[in-house]
Amino acid sequence: MTSPSAPLITLAWDEFDPMRVTPLTHNLIDHPLLQREALVELGKRCRGTNRWYSFASGVEPGTDFDAAAELYPSGQSAVASLNAIEDAKAWVLLRHIQADPTYRTLVDEAFEPIIEHIERVDPGVYYRAGWIFSASPNTCTPFHIDRSHVLLCQVSGTKTVYVWDPTDRETLGDRVRDDFHARHDLSRARWDETFRARAHVFHLKPGTGVYMPLTSPHMVETSTEASRTISFTYNTAATRRRGRIHVLRDALRRMGMEAPPVGSHIAFDAAAWMASSALIACGGPGGHAPACPSLRRRLAYAVDD
Ligand SMILES: [Fe+2]
Repeated sequence: MTSPSAPLITLAWDEFDPMRVTPLTHNLIDHPLLQREALVELGKRCRGTNRWYSFASGVEPGTDFDAAAELYPSGQSAVASLNAIEDAKAWVLLRHIQADPTYRTLVDEAFEPIIEHIERVDPGVYYRAGWIFSASPNTCTPFHIDRSHVLLCQVSGTKTVYVWDPTDRETLGDRVRDDFHARHDLSRARWDETFRARAHVFHLKPGTGVYMPLTSPHMVETSTEASRTISFTYNTAATRRRGRIHVLRDALRRMGMEAPPVGSHIAFDAAAWMASSALIACGGPGGHAPACPSLRRRLAYAVDD
């Protein structure tokens, strides 16, 4: 049994670089809120909300993540799949678990002991959230990016996680990140089998995990056994700044202007951040708010959007 003050997540914090993909370990395997029965109950509480997402096994690395549920309907409820994930031929995500009072305590338990380590090099932590993935054997999570830093923890079963550096423009160009931060549009995120050769590859087993920086492309494949994983995500002053730069780049492009590569022109990036802050304060570029509420407001917890 873990003592109350022992961190649930351990990472080489002395060497922590928020923009570097990094392995981690954790003590979440036996956590009561991560056992099957508890997840089934959480699944029941998510009924009638958008706090769950599910599709059938058969999805491929190149499947559009947002269209996966429509293209590969699981044919049964998330609760039914969670109850028998070994045979369900399904992938089930319980989203924004921090919206559930019981699970918010788990999110806090994970973050509280490590916030000071993160803050030391990546200050202004906000928008914390938790996500629980349950997947049948031989099931894929398509190639995609996320809007936060991710602490991914493998709880049961094994899976292979492919992650690419957040600055790897051959795998995913700035334009895709512009689309994503501005509109959550991932239609230009195209998968190519040759990407596997230059990925960071993690063969995760229970108790292990990986830290993935903001918009690091990733793709996951379960093994011949079912898998359960929890991700904790958060934003910081730097992720907010980076996201806002992409929002302005998108606005400029729609006005016919092309911005220099992100990170290549310090003065442009600084001006872009200022300008995008003004745009967002006015309601968003073109009258549309940026895709993620985290770019508008610094909330302690992510909101279910
Ligand atoms: Fe992800």
